[in-house]
Amino acid sequence: MKYDVRVLPLLSNEEIADGIFDMRLEYKQADLPVRCGQFAHVYVPGKSLRRPISVCDARGGELRLVYQVKGEGTEIMSKMQAGSSVDVLVPLGNGFNIEKGKRFCLIGGGIGVPPMLYTAAQCDDPLIITGFRNSSLVILQDDLSALGETLLCTDDGSAGEKGFVTDLLRARIDEVDEVCACGPTPMLKAVAAVCKEFGKPCQISLEERMGCGVGACLVCAVKVRKDGEEIMQHVCKNGPVFNAEEVVF
Ligand SMILES: Cc1cc2nc3c(=O)[nH]c(=O)nc-3n(C[C@H](O)[C@H](O)[C@H](O)COP(=O)(O)OP(=O)(O)OC[C@H]3O[C@@H](n4cnc5c(N)ncnc54)[C@H](O)[C@@H]3O)c2cc1C
Ligand code: FES
Repeated sequence: MKYDVRVLPLLSNEEIADGIFDMRLEYKQADLPVRCGQFAHVYVPGKSLRRPISVCDARGGELRLVYQVKGEGTEIMSKMQAGSSVDVLVPLGNGFNIEKGKRFCLIGGGIGVPPMLYTAAQCDDPLIITGFRNSSLVILQDDLSALGETLLCTDDGSAGEKGFVTDLLRARIDEVDEVCACGPTPMLKAVAAVCKEFGKPCQISLEERMGCGVGACLVCAVKVRKDGEEIMQHVCKNGPVFNAEEVVF
Protein backbone atom coordinates (compact mmCIF):
# COMPACT_ATOMS: atom_id res chain seq x y z
CA MET A 1 0.00 0.00 0.00
CA LYS A 2 1.66 3.20 -1.16
CA TYR A 3 0.33 6.32 0.53
CA ASP A 4 1.71 9.70 1.40
CA VAL A 5 0.80 13.07 2.84
CA ARG A 6 -0.07 15.70 0.25
CA VAL A 7 -0.98 19.33 0.86
CA LEU A 8 -3.40 19.94 -1.99
CA PRO A 9 -4.77 23.24 -3.33
CA LEU A 10 -8.50 23.52 -2.60
CA LEU A 11 -10.28 24.36 -5.86
CA SER A 12 -13.86 24.46 -4.55
CA ASN A 13 -16.00 23.32 -1.62
CA GLU A 14 -19.68 23.71 -2.52
CA GLU A 15 -22.84 22.58 -0.74
CA ILE A 16 -24.61 20.26 -3.24
CA ALA A 17 -27.52 19.08 -1.02
CA ASP A 18 -28.72 19.62 2.54
CA GLY A 19 -25.49 19.58 4.62
CA ILE A 20 -23.54 17.70 1.92
CA PHE A 21 -20.41 19.29 0.43
CA ASP A 22 -18.39 18.60 -2.71
CA MET A 23 -14.70 19.32 -2.07
CA ARG A 24 -12.40 19.43 -5.09
CA LEU A 25 -8.64 19.36 -4.61
CA GLU A 26 -5.95 19.68 -7.26
CA TYR A 27 -4.43 16.21 -7.67
CA LYS A 28 -1.94 14.45 -9.93
CA GLN A 29 -3.12 10.84 -10.36
CA ALA A 30 0.17 9.93 -12.09
CA ASP A 31 2.13 11.09 -9.02
CA LEU A 32 0.19 8.95 -6.50
CA PRO A 33 -2.45 6.72 -8.19
CA VAL A 34 -5.80 6.27 -6.42
CA ARG A 35 -8.08 3.24 -6.90
CA CYS A 36 -11.84 3.31 -6.67
CA GLY A 37 -13.11 2.58 -3.15
CA GLN A 38 -9.97 3.92 -1.46
CA PHE A 39 -10.21 6.79 0.99
CA ALA A 40 -8.40 9.96 2.02
CA HIS A 41 -7.63 10.83 5.63
CA VAL A 42 -8.22 14.55 5.92
CA TYR A 43 -6.39 16.73 8.45
CA VAL A 44 -8.79 19.13 10.16
CA PRO A 45 -7.07 22.10 11.85
CA GLY A 46 -7.54 21.95 15.63
CA LYS A 47 -8.37 18.21 15.65
CA SER A 48 -5.80 15.57 16.49
CA LEU A 49 -7.48 12.80 14.46
CA ARG A 50 -7.88 12.97 10.70
CA ARG A 51 -11.32 12.34 9.15
CA PRO A 52 -11.71 9.42 6.70
CA ILE A 53 -13.57 10.38 3.48
CA SER A 54 -13.95 8.11 0.44
CA VAL A 55 -12.54 9.15 -2.88
CA CYS A 56 -15.57 10.22 -4.92
CA ASP A 57 -13.54 10.85 -8.07
CA ALA A 58 -9.91 11.14 -9.11
CA ARG A 59 -10.25 12.03 -12.77
CA GLY A 60 -9.46 15.30 -14.55
CA GLY A 61 -6.61 16.44 -12.29
CA GLU A 62 -8.86 16.56 -9.22
CA LEU A 63 -9.40 14.57 -6.05
CA ARG A 64 -13.08 14.90 -5.24
CA LEU A 65 -14.39 14.25 -1.72
CA VAL A 66 -18.13 14.45 -1.08
CA TYR A 67 -18.98 14.56 2.62
CA GLN A 68 -21.88 15.17 4.95
CA VAL A 69 -21.54 17.48 7.94
CA LYS A 70 -21.92 15.21 10.98
CA GLY A 71 -19.90 16.74 13.82
CA GLU A 72 -17.20 19.29 14.52
CA GLY A 73 -14.60 17.95 12.08
CA THR A 74 -16.80 17.92 9.00
CA GLU A 75 -18.29 21.28 10.08
CA ILE A 76 -14.76 22.76 10.01
CA MET A 77 -14.18 21.12 6.60
CA SER A 78 -17.34 22.73 5.23
CA LYS A 79 -15.91 26.19 6.06
CA MET A 80 -12.65 25.62 4.16
CA GLN A 81 -12.32 28.14 1.34
CA ALA A 82 -11.17 27.78 -2.27
CA GLY A 83 -7.63 29.13 -2.56
CA SER A 84 -6.50 27.53 0.72
CA SER A 85 -5.00 24.03 0.89
CA VAL A 86 -5.94 20.75 2.55
CA ASP A 87 -3.57 18.21 4.10
CA VAL A 88 -4.57 14.65 3.16
CA LEU A 89 -3.06 11.23 3.74
CA VAL A 90 -3.90 9.37 0.55
CA PRO A 91 -4.69 6.85 -0.92
CA LEU A 92 -5.67 4.53 1.95
CA GLY A 93 -7.34 1.11 2.03
CA ASN A 94 -7.71 -1.57 -0.62
CA GLY A 95 -10.55 -0.40 -2.89
CA PHE A 96 -13.02 -2.31 -5.08
CA ASN A 97 -11.75 -5.03 -7.39
CA ILE A 98 -13.24 -4.26 -10.82
CA GLU A 99 -12.64 -6.92 -13.48
CA LYS A 100 -12.97 -6.03 -17.14
CA GLY A 101 -15.57 -8.05 -19.04
CA LYS A 102 -17.92 -8.37 -16.05
CA ARG A 103 -21.12 -6.33 -15.68
CA PHE A 104 -21.22 -4.74 -12.24
CA CYS A 105 -24.17 -3.47 -10.27
CA LEU A 106 -22.97 -0.59 -8.07
CA ILE A 107 -25.13 0.27 -5.08
CA GLY A 108 -24.83 3.37 -2.94
CA GLY A 109 -26.96 4.32 0.04
CA GLY A 110 -26.97 7.92 1.32
CA ILE A 111 -23.46 9.20 1.94
CA GLY A 112 -22.23 5.80 0.68
CA VAL A 113 -23.01 6.98 -2.87
CA PRO A 114 -19.86 9.13 -3.51
CA PRO A 115 -17.30 6.27 -3.89
CA MET A 116 -19.57 4.71 -6.51
CA LEU A 117 -18.82 7.53 -8.94
CA TYR A 118 -15.12 6.72 -9.42
CA THR A 119 -16.01 3.02 -9.25
CA ALA A 120 -18.52 3.50 -12.10
CA ALA A 121 -15.79 5.20 -14.11
CA GLN A 122 -13.76 1.94 -13.97
CA CYS A 123 -16.65 -0.31 -15.13
CA ASP A 124 -18.05 -1.14 -18.58
CA ASP A 125 -21.75 -0.31 -18.67
CA PRO A 126 -22.50 -0.54 -14.94
CA LEU A 127 -25.99 -0.64 -13.49
CA ILE A 128 -25.98 1.96 -10.72
CA ILE A 129 -28.58 1.90 -7.95
CA THR A 130 -28.73 4.72 -5.42
CA GLY A 131 -31.03 5.18 -2.45
CA PHE A 132 -31.61 8.12 -0.10
CA ARG A 133 -33.90 8.93 2.81
CA ASN A 134 -35.62 11.73 0.86
CA SER A 135 -35.19 14.09 -2.12
CA SER A 136 -33.27 16.74 -0.12
CA LEU A 137 -30.34 14.31 0.24
CA VAL A 138 -30.14 13.13 -3.38
CA ILE A 139 -26.66 13.70 -4.86
CA LEU A 140 -24.51 12.92 -7.92
CA GLN A 141 -27.30 11.75 -10.25
CA ASP A 142 -26.01 13.65 -13.32
CA ASP A 143 -22.42 12.48 -12.76
CA LEU A 144 -23.52 8.86 -12.35
CA SER A 145 -25.90 8.80 -15.31
CA ALA A 146 -23.00 9.87 -17.57
CA LEU A 147 -21.32 6.54 -16.70
CA GLY A 148 -24.13 3.96 -16.76
CA GLU A 149 -27.80 3.22 -16.27
CA THR A 150 -29.02 4.71 -12.99
CA LEU A 151 -31.94 3.71 -10.79
CA LEU A 152 -32.99 5.96 -7.92
CA CYS A 153 -35.15 5.29 -4.89
CA THR A 154 -36.03 7.12 -1.68
CA ASP A 155 -37.55 5.82 1.54
CA ASP A 156 -40.50 8.22 1.24
CA GLY A 157 -40.88 8.27 -2.57
CA SER A 158 -40.06 12.02 -2.80
CA ALA A 159 -37.53 11.25 -5.59
CA GLY A 160 -37.35 8.18 -7.84
CA GLU A 161 -39.18 5.05 -6.74
CA LYS A 162 -40.47 4.61 -3.21
CA GLY A 163 -38.57 1.76 -1.59
CA PHE A 164 -35.13 0.38 -0.89
CA VAL A 165 -32.09 -0.34 -3.07
CA THR A 166 -32.60 -4.05 -2.44
CA ASP A 167 -36.05 -3.90 -4.14
CA LEU A 168 -34.39 -2.50 -7.28
CA LEU A 169 -31.49 -4.96 -7.00
CA ARG A 170 -33.84 -7.96 -6.83
CA ALA A 171 -35.64 -6.81 -9.98
CA ARG A 172 -32.41 -6.51 -12.01
CA ILE A 173 -29.87 -8.84 -10.40
CA ASP A 174 -30.09 -11.39 -13.23
CA GLU A 175 -28.55 -8.80 -15.58
CA VAL A 176 -25.29 -8.41 -13.65
CA ASP A 177 -22.29 -10.59 -12.77
CA GLU A 178 -21.21 -8.96 -9.52
CA VAL A 179 -22.33 -6.34 -6.99
CA CYS A 180 -20.34 -3.62 -5.17
CA ALA A 181 -22.02 -1.65 -2.39
CA CYS A 182 -21.34 1.17 0.08
CA GLY A 183 -23.80 2.59 2.60
CA PRO A 184 -25.23 2.06 6.08
CA THR A 185 -24.60 -1.35 7.66
CA PRO A 186 -28.26 -2.53 7.58
CA MET A 187 -28.29 -1.80 3.83
CA LEU A 188 -25.02 -3.67 3.29
CA LYS A 189 -26.36 -6.62 5.25
CA ALA A 190 -29.55 -6.67 3.13
CA VAL A 191 -27.60 -6.34 -0.15
CA ALA A 192 -25.28 -9.18 0.92
CA ALA A 193 -28.31 -11.39 1.69
CA VAL A 194 -29.88 -10.76 -1.75
CA CYS A 195 -26.55 -11.52 -3.48
CA LYS A 196 -26.20 -14.74 -1.49
CA GLU A 197 -29.75 -15.77 -2.42
CA PHE A 198 -29.03 -15.24 -6.14
CA GLY A 199 -25.46 -16.60 -6.03
CA LYS A 200 -23.78 -13.33 -7.07
CA PRO A 201 -20.39 -12.25 -5.72
CA CYS A 202 -20.61 -9.09 -3.62
CA GLN A 203 -18.01 -6.61 -2.38
CA ILE A 204 -19.01 -4.21 0.40
CA SER A 205 -17.26 -1.13 1.75
CA LEU A 206 -17.48 -0.94 5.55
CA GLU A 207 -17.39 2.14 7.73
CA GLU A 208 -15.86 2.10 11.22
CA ARG A 209 -14.58 4.83 13.49
CA MET A 210 -10.90 5.35 12.78
CA GLY A 211 -7.80 6.60 14.51
CA CYS A 212 -4.58 6.28 12.52
CA GLY A 213 -6.10 5.08 9.21
CA VAL A 214 -3.05 2.92 8.42
CA GLY A 215 -3.35 -0.22 10.56
CA ALA A 216 -1.43 0.88 13.64
CA CYS A 217 -4.01 1.61 16.37
CA LEU A 218 -6.68 -1.19 16.27
CA VAL A 219 -9.61 1.26 16.54
CA CYS A 220 -11.27 0.05 13.33
CA ALA A 221 -11.29 -3.71 13.92
CA VAL A 222 -14.11 -5.83 12.41
CA LYS A 223 -14.80 -9.54 12.59
CA VAL A 224 -14.38 -11.54 9.38
CA ARG A 225 -14.49 -15.25 8.60
CA LYS A 226 -11.47 -16.69 6.76
CA ASP A 227 -10.99 -20.42 6.10
CA GLY A 228 -13.81 -21.21 8.57
CA GLU A 229 -12.21 -19.20 11.38
CA GLU A 230 -13.40 -15.86 12.79
CA ILE A 231 -10.58 -13.31 12.96
CA MET A 232 -10.30 -9.53 13.48
CA GLN A 233 -9.17 -7.32 10.60
CA HIS A 234 -8.66 -3.59 10.15
CA VAL A 235 -11.19 -1.67 8.07
CA CYS A 236 -8.50 0.92 7.25
CA LYS A 237 -5.83 -1.49 6.04
CA ASN A 238 -7.50 -4.81 5.11
CA GLY A 239 -10.62 -2.93 3.90
CA PRO A 240 -12.66 -0.81 3.70
CA VAL A 241 -13.79 -3.21 0.94
CA PHE A 242 -14.46 -6.81 1.98
CA ASN A 243 -15.96 -9.84 0.32
CA ALA A 244 -19.52 -9.75 1.74
CA GLU A 245 -19.48 -13.50 2.45
CA GLU A 246 -16.54 -13.04 4.83
CA VAL A 247 -18.01 -10.26 6.98
CA VAL A 248 -19.52 -11.28 10.33
CA PHE A 249 -22.29 -8.69 10.71
C1 LIG B 1 -13.54 4.39 5.06
C2 LIG B 1 -14.50 5.51 5.37
C3 LIG B 1 -14.98 6.30 4.35
C4 LIG B 1 -15.88 7.33 4.61
N1 LIG B 1 -16.31 8.08 3.57
C5 LIG B 1 -17.15 9.11 3.80
C6 LIG B 1 -17.60 9.92 2.71
O1 LIG B 1 -17.23 9.72 1.54
N2 LIG B 1 -18.43 10.94 3.00
C7 LIG B 1 -18.86 11.19 4.28
O2 LIG B 1 -19.62 12.12 4.50
N3 LIG B 1 -18.46 10.43 5.32
C8 LIG B 1 -17.61 9.41 5.11
N4 LIG B 1 -17.19 8.65 6.17
C9 LIG B 1 -17.67 9.00 7.52
C10 LIG B 1 -16.84 10.19 8.04
O3 LIG B 1 -15.51 9.77 8.27
C11 LIG B 1 -17.44 10.71 9.36
O4 LIG B 1 -18.73 11.21 9.13
C12 LIG B 1 -16.56 11.84 9.92
O5 LIG B 1 -15.31 11.33 10.32
C13 LIG B 1 -17.27 12.50 11.09
O6 LIG B 1 -16.38 13.45 11.64
P1 LIG B 1 -16.89 14.67 12.52
O7 LIG B 1 -15.72 15.28 13.18
O8 LIG B 1 -17.74 15.57 11.71
O9 LIG B 1 -17.86 13.97 13.54
P2 LIG B 1 -17.60 13.60 15.08
O10 LIG B 1 -18.69 12.67 15.47
O11 LIG B 1 -17.38 14.84 15.88
O12 LIG B 1 -16.24 12.80 15.02
C14 LIG B 1 -15.57 12.38 16.17
C15 LIG B 1 -14.56 11.30 15.79
O13 LIG B 1 -15.25 10.12 15.37
C16 LIG B 1 -14.89 9.78 14.05
N5 LIG B 1 -16.10 9.37 13.33
C17 LIG B 1 -17.34 9.83 13.56
N6 LIG B 1 -18.21 9.21 12.74
C18 LIG B 1 -17.48 8.36 11.99
C19 LIG B 1 -17.80 7.45 10.98
N7 LIG B 1 -19.06 7.27 10.57
N8 LIG B 1 -16.80 6.74 10.40
C20 LIG B 1 -15.54 6.90 10.82
N9 LIG B 1 -15.18 7.74 11.77
C21 LIG B 1 -16.13 8.46 12.35
C22 LIG B 1 -14.30 11.05 13.45
O14 LIG B 1 -13.38 10.76 12.39
C23 LIG B 1 -13.65 11.67 14.65
O15 LIG B 1 -12.40 11.09 14.88
C24 LIG B 1 -16.31 7.59 5.94
C25 LIG B 1 -15.84 6.78 6.97
C26 LIG B 1 -14.96 5.75 6.70
C27 LIG B 1 -14.47 4.89 7.81
S1 FES C 1 -7.71 3.23 12.18
FE1 FES C 1 -5.91 2.64 13.24
S2 FES C 1 -5.82 0.50 12.79
FE2 FES C 1 -7.44 1.21 11.52
